[in-house]
Amino acid sequence: MCGIVGFTGTRKAAPVLIDGLRRLEYRGYDSAGIAVADGEKINVAKVKGYVKNLSEMTHDGADIEGVLGVGHTRWATHGAPNDINAHPHMSADGRFAVVHNGIIENYAALRSELTARGVKFLSDTDTEVVAHLLELYYDGDAKRAFMKAAARLEGSYSLGVVCLEGPGRLFAMREQSPLILGLGVGENYFASDVAALVPHTKNVIYLDDGEFAELTPDAVTVYDVRGREVVKPVSRVTWDVEAAEKGGYEHFMLKEIMEQPACFKATVEPRIQDGRIVFENFDLSEAELHSIDRIIITACGSAGYAGQVGRYVLEELCRIPVAVELASELRYRNPIIDEHTLLIVISQSGETADTIAAMRECKARGARALAIVNVVGSTIAKLADHVIYTWAGPEIAVATTKGYTTQVAVLDMLAIYLADRLGLMEKARYDALIEALHSMPGKLQRALDLNRNVKKLAKMFKNQSSIYFIGRNLDYAVCMEGALKLKEISYIFAEAYAAGELKHGTIALIDQGSLVVTLACHEPLFEKTMSNIEEVKARGAEVLAVALEDNKQIVSKADYFLKVPRTDPILNPIAQVIPLQLFAYYIAKERGCDIDKPKNLAKSVTVE
Ligand code: AGP
Repeated sequence: MCGIVGFTGTRKAAPVLIDGLRRLEYRGYDSAGIAVADGEKINVAKVKGYVKNLSEMTHDGADIEGVLGVGHTRWATHGAPNDINAHPHMSADGRFAVVHNGIIENYAALRSELTARGVKFLSDTDTEVVAHLLELYYDGDAKRAFMKAAARLEGSYSLGVVCLEGPGRLFAMREQSPLILGLGVGENYFASDVAALVPHTKNVIYLDDGEFAELTPDAVTVYDVRGREVVKPVSRVTWDVEAAEKGGYEHFMLKEIMEQPACFKATVEPRIQDGRIVFENFDLSEAELHSIDRIIITACGSAGYAGQVGRYVLEELCRIPVAVELASELRYRNPIIDEHTLLIVISQSGETADTIAAMRECKARGARALAIVNVVGSTIAKLADHVIYTWAGPEIAVATTKGYTTQVAVLDMLAIYLADRLGLMEKARYDALIEALHSMPGKLQRALDLNRNVKKLAKMFKNQSSIYFIGRNLDYAVCMEGALKLKEISYIFAEAYAAGELKHGTIALIDQGSLVVTLACHEPLFEKTMSNIEEVKARGAEVLAVALEDNKQIVSKADYFLKVPRTDPILNPIAQVIPLQLFAYYIAKERGCDIDKPKNLAKSVTVE
């Protein structure tokens, strides 16, 4: 996934573009560049590495003249990260510069066609074909050239184009990759994410697939794929620029870990009205509700692990079969799905390619799709039949934390809501769960405050070559997220394992000095988990137990202890994951890793 920005106005464009790229850098950071038209030519500056390199190269944009331009921060798909493959890409005649997020799937055929016409390609990217198509189709009308070039493209792409024709004109297009327009006073913008727009304006337009826009300093015009003007609603961004900044924390990840009590409250409280759970966009009729005979949860990565927690809770409370399917597998599995299937699609970004594809596949087979997403106007939100937003605010760190816990919170509320509507929940139990939801922000704050020893544990285990996470039932589901957090920011191999499954093979790997993180909060199976602790200790392992703070038994068995405040059992995973997030964070810090931008990763994987 990449980040693109555009600016047209009366002040210097380059500093505005570079600042916008900084706010999008979590989307991809292996190279960055800008292209600015100064009335006579397009000036391009681009470089491998972080936006910081681009800023240093151009004195934060001061060296680049012009009030109209585009910018790009890259996560490479075609062509290694280097100065040549960095965006923007130019047409040979120097009239057009292009930035792109996504994949042009037919670029090879287009490249062959253009090469046969004598075009000399400079880069290994798919994007460069767009610049040469614009030149090919340009006959004095830039808008027509843009439409013709776009009509040749297949795949997913958001495009930004600056052209020399006519003072101050930009073009921007959305096709299955997010693109948002920002409306200023005497200046206008576009960006892949509102985080780049909020410092300038909160008035935005979310483009839909196939739509493109023409931007001048005084006007923004949106067209459909056939060039007909479209009237679009102007939305108001609800959060401030500070929400997308570090706020004094060393890393976005730590800030977002600390924000979780507030994010839980923001996501849950507005949906409890007069003691009842109310969803703003999920109101099934009785017939629709009772026609659901199975639930499939699909997602990728941590969103999938939130789904694993949701599966236990939904099945326990609603007595409907629930399966969690990796989106990248579900999309190709020829699944048995029909109109009685409720598909729950979970995604922080709402732009994950595999999740979108799986969703399209299931909808095509008749499933009703409920999306749980954090980004307003995202592709998944637009494709779904129903949307329950997590209101966690912008999540910048590549490793999700508040995104995950608010997803689990929504799943818990959904399970309570459905069980109640299905007549499967006593009023007393329902009311107790509502009380438990109200008290969770305080419990989460306690989970943050309880584990002062986590930094010491991180120092002790920062050089472990591998770490095992074991648990049963909900504990096992949380193990999956705990293992992924550790892997993706500290680069230590970690694996989540069902504790009851250990003896069927993997225990062969447990040796003197192995570290086994044992989650033991799920009380109905506590004794079984204690037996698993005995098993691994008998083979030389050290055990770091994650258990309820008032659990005295485990202290005698485990070597180390991370405490979890007591909550209602079905809500416990939300509290339990917090010490694991902190454990991963401080180990990564000890190892000197780039915590907010881990190697090889991007915040949202918008390619297959
Ligand atoms: C989680 O920390 C990772 N960044 C990754 O697994 C992520 O959860 C996954 O790519 C799904 O992203 P989404 O929630 O935006 O769809």
